[in-house]
Amino acid sequence: MATGLRKGLATYGDAGFSLFLRRAFLKAMGYTDAALDRPIIGITDTFSDFNPCHGNVPDLIVAVKRGVLLAGGMPMAFPTVSIHESFSHPTSMFLRNLMALDTEEMVRAQPMDAVVLIGGCDKTLPAQLMGAASVNLPAIVLPTGPMLVGHHKGEVLGACTDCRRLWAEYRAGRIDEAETDLLTDRLAPTKGTCMVMGTASTIACMVEAIGMCLPGAASIPATHADRIRAAEASGAAAVALAKSGRKPSDIMTKAAFRNALTVLQAIGGSTNGLIHFTAIAGRLGIDIDMAEFDRLGLEVPVLVDLKPSGDHYMEHFHWAGAMPKLLKEIADLLDTSALTVTGGTLADNIALAEDVPGQTVIRTRATAIAEGGGLAVLGGNLAPDGALLKRSAATPALMQHEGRAVVFDGLEDMAARLDDPELDVTADDVLVLRNAGPKGAPGMPEAGYIPIPRKLARAGVKDMVRISDARMSGTAFGTIVLHIAPEAAVGGPLGLVKTGDRIRLDAAARRIDLLVDGAELAARRTAWTPPPAHPGAERGYLRLYLDQVTQADQGCDFAFCRAGGASTAG
Ligand code: FES
Repeated sequence: MATGLRKGLATYGDAGFSLFLRRAFLKAMGYTDAALDRPIIGITDTFSDFNPCHGNVPDLIVAVKRGVLLAGGMPMAFPTVSIHESFSHPTSMFLRNLMALDTEEMVRAQPMDAVVLIGGCDKTLPAQLMGAASVNLPAIVLPTGPMLVGHHKGEVLGACTDCRRLWAEYRAGRIDEAETDLLTDRLAPTKGTCMVMGTASTIACMVEAIGMCLPGAASIPATHADRIRAAEASGAAAVALAKSGRKPSDIMTKAAFRNALTVLQAIGGSTNGLIHFTAIAGRLGIDIDMAEFDRLGLEVPVLVDLKPSGDHYMEHFHWAGAMPKLLKEIADLLDTSALTVTGGTLADNIALAEDVPGQTVIRTRATAIAEGGGLAVLGGNLAPDGALLKRSAATPALMQHEGRAVVFDGLEDMAARLDDPELDVTADDVLVLRNAGPKGAPGMPEAGYIPIPRKLARAGVKDMVRISDARMSGTAFGTIVLHIAPEAAVGGPLGLVKTGDRIRLDAAARRIDLLVDGAELAARRTAWTPPPAHPGAERGYLRLYLDQVTQADQGCDFAFCRAGGASTAG
């Protein structure tokens, strides 16, 4: 098989000419033949002025290149799409599959023997692993790392759990506009990813659990020298991977996905972790069993005391022993023979675990944050293909709750009416948001954290049962049922709910049910019409997205990108 510069030649009908031309063009940048004969290690450059979570990528690339050169390889950085949560209209989830396509095709198209995937902001590592899984070229992930904590009036702040909490304070009239201005200086004080156990941190920890990055790489702060050293080591590891030929499919096996999902439960991680790893697994022909994931939730305790479920931040997790320490605590629940990018196994990573006297961030089984894991998979007549509830961030008293539905037909409807003082709503009601799923929104926005209606917030209401076909940020909290599948816009039962109906959440029984009799539901189904087409849906990426995106239970990947490419678009 061709390696290095001889891989994937451009098609001119004469391979010798293609290689001749390639060498000539590369030499325009001053490379020598000796350099070009080395194993080539691609490095994704996801720096963007629109992506502060990747603000340290230029420094990381320098260090990765150093590691590659020291190990005898030839580093070649190349740009790909970069996605930041706050700079992605309509949503970052809408663009995740575009980044996965871009990463896949650029890794496949350009001559490289292994690739270092540098990413971090929520959708980027999932997109990169989706692409890498499909190409199945030796690959290693280098997370950009979490930012340091912020400080405000003697309080420690974390993006973005505290962004939401403080915005809720502003909405309730407890802080003023001048203070919100000051807070924008303090909530995200350094480069790097959000430093709570939000989606970015969750994914980084799952990437380490599945064996696709070096031990400790999930949590080293973005601004620390250790992060630079991890970059250099990742470059060297990529050269070793290129030589050994160990591929993503050798590492990301069914057992390794189970390890990653076990960690998702043990860290009380983001609901988005399940969607993204379902999509990555789908690229390798592996189905995630939702019932098994829910069972894991019963046997895996939450051991990490980080916001939003707990009290601390990623830098504290790191100095408490990081992923090797957590993996050691739950080693009996893992397949520690799973291979990793180090050339060894997960057991080798666990052997590096450091005992940090007095730390309380990574708990033992005896001092667990919660007995059962963070995430529960719900069924019931409102969610025939499943829904998720993050129990560790919910209010225990609301886990069994029956209330009157107050329905919002989409994001605009919610924005228009939620804060209307005339809105007929009480704290016992169930807020319903629909047409906010993968196709309905489009892009399944993180709108499932439906704000408490202003008049209730001002009266001191902190939580209500809220249900939707949307996602929510991993940094959010509350009794929130998400990812309801199928979504309302494709005919899911959520679309049949009317304000005034009764809805019952029974977390113990894993059910979310609409208490309306079958004949009435059948009549509503007959009368149901799909929402109007999105503007611009007839062309371009939006058309591709709407044609191909699958439902939440399939990871919202494009149907044609899953292994085998079976068309199962929702
Ligand atoms: Fe990038 Fe939070 S916005 S990780």
